Amino acid sequence: MANDDKYPVESDRRRFVKGVVGGSALAGVLTTGAVAVSSATAPSSGGGGFVNYFGAERLAGPAPRGLPQIPLEIDDEGQLLGVWPEPETQTLPDGSEFTEASMELGGVDYTTEWYQYCGLQTFGGLVPDADGEDQVIRYDAGSYEWMSDVENGDPMLTEHFEDYDEWTNDIGEPGQGKPATGTWRSQNVPPEQTVPVLVIKTDQLEVDNMDDRIREWVEASCPEDEDGGRYLGYVNKCTHFCCAPGYRSLDDAAAFGAANEIFCNCHNSVYDPFSISEQQFVALPRSGDEE
Ligand code: FES
Repeated sequence: MANDDKYPVESDRRRFVKGVVGGSALAGVLTTGAVAVSSATAPSSGGGGFVNYFGAERLAGPAPRGLPQIPLEIDDEGQLLGVWPEPETQTLPDGSEFTEASMELGGVDYTTEWYQYCGLQTFGGLVPDADGEDQVIRYDAGSYEWMSDVENGDPMLTEHFEDYDEWTNDIGEPGQGKPATGTWRSQNVPPEQTVPVLVIKTDQLEVDNMDDRIREWVEASCPEDEDGGRYLGYVNKCTHFCCAPGYRSLDDAAAFGAANEIFCNCHNSVYDPFSISEQQFVALPRSGDEE
């Protein structure tokens, strides 16, 4: 673990958000976790299939695609919430019923199928109408020294990120933002079904330089605080073989040029947390959706 909470100097680093990554460009590298798939094997109905999503750009390593974003919002108590669409049950032509959760958000078709990879599609809390699960992001045991001040399982609060523009640790440059790790929709499921989440409050998202479509999405999915910082959420599960990456929490990241990136040290994949693009993958069918 890194040593946190040192005070930074100003950084002039600037990032620019990349454009859409088309499905055709990805056709040769589509995978869902450890399982390579092709259009010939892709499920095609509501239980999975080709899905466009927004996520962190993959920079290096064997990961086939970027980490999916979790769109965030802030409630009246300053709690960070992951947006979860209202579930809707549809009756299929064969008379069977299928429940899905999708909505229009920031001009984008946001669906919980974004999370159907690496076994997450079997997690009880990610069922669209999961009993007893709410939207609150909760702290986990903590990947950062500053998180020793918060309780495992407590709601993630904006008041804990007020020093986001000063926070730093021994890994990476100061002025990038302040991270936290947590869980989501995992209150009533076995520990092995805990959904890992990475949240970063940052001023590195330069919305004025983004394409219109990405800017609209980022403005809708990364809520802005009164001080100008934005909250950015990701599923913290590598799209390669499903390990948990780290953002400024793994000492070997610098050796791979990833001190300021999200780094997965299982096989050295690197993701840029501040470069958001539209990507495509093949969502696996949810448990029970298979034909
Ligand atoms: S790079 Fe292989 S699991 Fe992350």
